[in-house]
Amino acid sequence: MQVKLRIFRYNPEADKKPHYENYQVEAEPTDRILDLLEYVKGYIDGTLSFRRSCAHGVCGSDAMRINGINYLACKVLVKDLKSSKITVEPMLGLSVIKDLIVDMEPFFDHFRSVMPYMVNDETPPSTERHQSPEERERFDDTTKCILCAACTTSCPSYWANEKYVGPAAIVNAHRFIFDSRDRAAAERLRILNDQFGVFRCHTIFNCTLACPREIQITTAIGEVKRAIATGSLD
Ligand code: FES
Repeated sequence: MQVKLRIFRYNPEADKKPHYENYQVEAEPTDRILDLLEYVKGYIDGTLSFRRSCAHGVCGSDAMRINGINYLACKVLVKDLKSSKITVEPMLGLSVIKDLIVDMEPFFDHFRSVMPYMVNDETPPSTERHQSPEERERFDDTTKCILCAACTTSCPSYWANEKYVGPAAIVNAHRFIFDSRDRAAAERLRILNDQFGVFRCHTIFNCTLACPREIQITTAIGEVKRAIATGSLD
């Protein structure tokens, strides 16, 4: 089938402002959007810039807006879009470095702000720190985050104020707050109770719809809100 690709282009070193370029490409319905971008870069215009690494939905580097919705380009097929006209744009809310590449540093600043690592200064046991299957299950869903930023950059609260810590950071805080081996839940909850913290979430669900790992993000955010409101992790 013939696909009309409309791609956002912007090279701040050469362009006064962004524009769109159209490319007509031959595609199979089972081709991924990443395959089409690779074709354009390889055979039509080598200056097209986008991030990708694993090409298998693991590294999270190729999140972008495809027909208005955030996806990993390596996980969405042409036939999934149900249209032969495909518009590809960078994620919203982060500044564009070039074409489909955005500056991820503000996103990672928010991620780092919630202490996304295990904190436990108690003397370690001679073997592992034990945890029951039920205790592990408590935060299983939020371990799946690949930090692609599809959730945070689809959130209207984040678009409205980039100081909002955003859903991805809350997901990664949740992963440790509800880990029975961790001892810094109170500190993370204090950070997330800030004016730019978890209560900026207005339960819009864009994040949950955008997550390529199908993490129940809005549920996780609700659990963090409840922990702050009740002072309990139960
Ligand atoms: S290239 Fe790694 S997730 Fe798509």
